[in-house]
Amino acid sequence: MRSEASGVNGNWIDVCPQADIKPGQARLVELEDLKVAVFNLEGEYYAMEDICTHDGSPLLGCGLEFEDLVSGDEIMCPRHGARFAIRTGQPLCPPAYEPTRQFPTRLHNGNVQICNPRND
Ligand code: FES
Repeated sequence: MRSEASGVNGNWIDVCPQADIKPGQARLVELEDLKVAVFNLEGEYYAMEDICTHDGSPLLGCGLEFEDLVSGDEIMCPRHGARFAIRTGQPLCPPAYEPTRQFPTRLHNGNVQICNPRND
C-alpha cells in the first residue's frame, strides 16, 4: 500500500491513478518526512496524516493489515485503541482527543491528488 508521491501540479500533488485506490481501500503516501493515508470511501477520497494524535503511533503504516485497522469509515490505532473518523479525522474514543491532520483531495486527469501540505 505504499507509493511515492510525484507529479506536483500547483498546490496539488498526484498521489496515484484513481483506479489504484478502489472503494474500501487505502494507500500510504510518503512526502519526504510526512506520511499521509489516502482512503477511498464509497468513491470519495480522504487524506489524513498517518499519525495517531494520542502518542504518535503510525496508523495505516503500523504494519498490520488494512482489514485489522479499518472498519467502515473508521480507522483504529492499534497501540492503545483510539479510533478516528476517516472523513473528518475526529477522534471517536479515548485515549485520543485531538483530530488527525486532514488534507483536501480531488481527482484530476484520472489521478487522485492531495493538497500540497508544504504550501499550507
Ligand atoms: S498512540 Fe494511538 S491510541 Fe495511543
